[in-house]
Amino acid sequence: MNTTTGKAWRAIKFGPPAESVELQQLTWEAPPEGHVLIRVSTAGAGFPDVMMTAGQYPLLGDPPFGLGEEAAGEVVAVSTGSRLSVGDRVTGITAFLQGWGGFAEYAYLREISTIRIPPTMTDEEAGGFPIGFRTAYAALVDRTPIEAGQTLLVLGAAGSTGTAAMQLGKALGAKVIAVAGSQDKLDFCSRHGADHVIGYRDENLTARLTEITDGRGIDLIFDPVGGDTAATALKSIARNGRIALVGVASGNPVPLNPMDMLLRNYSAVGVLATPGDPEAEALVWERLAELAGAGKVTMPVGRVYDFHDVPRMITEQSTPGPGKSVVRVASA
Ligand SMILES: NC(=O)c1ccc[n+]([C@@H]2O[C@H](COP(=O)([O-])OP(=O)(O)OC[C@H]3O[C@@H](n4cnc5c(N)ncnc54)[C@H](OP(=O)(O)O)[C@@H]3O)[C@@H](O)[C@H]2O)c1
Repeated sequence: MNTTTGKAWRAIKFGPPAESVELQQLTWEAPPEGHVLIRVSTAGAGFPDVMMTAGQYPLLGDPPFGLGEEAAGEVVAVSTGSRLSVGDRVTGITAFLQGWGGFAEYAYLREISTIRIPPTMTDEEAGGFPIGFRTAYAALVDRTPIEAGQTLLVLGAAGSTGTAAMQLGKALGAKVIAVAGSQDKLDFCSRHGADHVIGYRDENLTARLTEITDGRGIDLIFDPVGGDTAATALKSIARNGRIALVGVASGNPVPLNPMDMLLRNYSAVGVLATPGDPEAEALVWERLAELAGAGKVTMPVGRVYDFHDVPRMITEQSTPGPGKSVVRVASA
């Protein structure tokens, strides 16, 4: 393939997005082994973009680097041995860990973490699908498997990973209790998979969980939030219950007390959605594509931003609305 040129948003230093993020002209070579190159239609946005520009994202070094962990679009070039073809409509995880992000006119996708987009999925839903669902899968299937009939408490439930956990939990047969901070977010959770909703700002979380579970407690807490909300939720964990440690949207991890864990018989499990064995990773994405294709899970879209509004988008991800924020890079 000839080289391709286009524009890409890159972090040039750490700091407020208006100063730290720049639209640059780049050249993309043929995709490296294990990757495809796409012309980007949409790219998912979220709290990790805030962390990356602030210098708080643990898996990246210093700028410059491309922003955008996930993207959807049309394949324009493949590497040797690819199972995908030029022209396929796909969505997947970008090569952001190697400095090449998705808020760009072209993006490299890691092929084992890429699926063909089911015909029922819109470009916006597709661009915001990979990270949330890969993370929810890492927790609810791999690290802290949930069984049908168990209770799943989802913190940050109207956010990106929380929404995916609600949907996947429901598809796996769990009873889903969603926690969020405003009425519009609670209404959103009721529409997208929650059996019960609790407002952590206005309601007594402990009392509501006792009432909903008849005093039995929660089998699994999905925690992308940490801090006080997670600490309060932990008081209602069932015997043999588990908390999946996913993230720190509150700014702090949940405080854990080994003596409390011992005396009340529960465990805390770290969850990082990165690929291990390539075959196992391919199966994860096959299963996610099947669930999405069958309409059992979707990523409800929240705010949609124009490509030129990426710095504003990042600033606004500190106080996201319900659903997944998406950047539209190219018109359909
Ligand atoms: N482990 C992994 O592999 C993995 C993968 C992806 C993301 N993450 C991490 O997971 C975290 C969340 O990411 P995300 O993309 O889901 O973020 P998001 O879309 O911004 O959602 C976070 C949610 O948390 C809620 N929240 C914020 N502060 C809160 C508090 N003090 N108490 C209760 N809820 C609070 C927010 O809304 P309300 O407060 O209004 O309800 C928001 O809906 C981040 O730390 C991210 O880095 C981890």
